[in-house]
Amino acid sequence: MVKVGILGVGTVGASVARILEENGDIIEARAGEKIVVKSGVVKNLSKDRGVSITLSDNPYDVVDDPEIDIVIELMGGVDEPYRLVKKALENGKAVVTANKALLAYHRYELQEIAGDIPLMYEASTAGGIPIIGALRNGLSANHIESIQGIMNGTCNYMLTKMINEGAQYDEILKESQELGYAEADPTFDVGGFDASHKLLILASIAYGLDAKPEDILIEGIENITQTDVSFAKEFGYEIKLLGIAKKVGQGVELRVHATMIPQESMIAKVDGVMNAVTVVGDRVGETMYYGPGAGGDATASAVIADIVDIVRGNQGPMLGYKKGLESGLKLLPKEDI
Ligand code: NDP
Ligand code: HSE
Repeated sequence: MVKVGILGVGTVGASVARILEENGDIIEARAGEKIVVKSGVVKNLSKDRGVSITLSDNPYDVVDDPEIDIVIELMGGVDEPYRLVKKALENGKAVVTANKALLAYHRYELQEIAGDIPLMYEASTAGGIPIIGALRNGLSANHIESIQGIMNGTCNYMLTKMINEGAQYDEILKESQELGYAEADPTFDVGGFDASHKLLILASIAYGLDAKPEDILIEGIENITQTDVSFAKEFGYEIKLLGIAKKVGQGVELRVHATMIPQESMIAKVDGVMNAVTVVGDRVGETMYYGPGAGGDATASAVIADIVDIVRGNQGPMLGYKKGLESGLKLLPKEDI
């Protein structure tokens, strides 16, 4: 039996606990061992989480518990999860996290601390879509020419509602929060920062780039109005917030911004909370990955995939292939884009 502890039993954490319980038979068959939640951590102990697990308000009750094999970090934030993930790894525990903000700043450092201990984060990027697995495994024969797509479910949900239903920005942002799509601070979503965190994670796996959000061009959707989306539609375009990584000579361009996309293209047809990412490899050509980019159960699906991988004995994502396979590549300065 493998015991896990969950740091943060909120939208995603509660879904992880529920799915491990309700789909326990199929998960055990695939992992080869039974996986149980030993305990979880929340701030507010009096709130009902809808799951029957032991809760504490002290994260170290999980991180320092000698019976816990895998720590699942689903709290959000950067500094506190950094300290907790570091301690968990130092305690010899495998870690699964969905926290792209943490990884945007500390992924290489945490990978170094992890060494051969698994540190997995499929759920950090594009919610339920197994895009990290695709880049790390399925496309490993390829030099990656480009990665681009819709990487933030909240923005895509908002833009879709603005386009199709004429919904107002503020009311639709509130709805995204109620549905559990938005970050605790939704300016991360609408400001493009969340998409940039995901883009940086993908670029690390594809190119070995060690950049931070400040190093890349980021624009959000805050200034997009109902008039903009109506005009775009009239001229045959949809407005989408895209994350783009593109190899240009010996450089890599990384940028996040709203883009007018012809209505007939596949990306333009991606609506609501769905994400879609296109990856072009030099041997496979163009591939595309589509699915729910946010939400409790969809994200928990990716978290549990990592847990199953760890129990089966698979390693983590190996940023930059440890030795820098594409070591000649440099990030192009954002001022030049
Ligand atoms: P929530 O805000 O719903 O859940 C966070 C949980 O962590 C809450 O239970 C909260 O407790 C607990 N928590 C936060 N800080 C502390 C602390 N200091 N001590 C103890 N408990 C704490 O967030 P989500 O579930 O939406 O997101 C979790 C993570 O997953 C984030 O990193 C997010 O970016 C990422 N993610 C989320 C997705 C989504 O669709 N929601 C998709 C992909 C990734 P309390 O409830 O008492 O406040
Ligand atoms: N807030 C994020 C989004 C959650 O809307 O895409 C998934 O990473």
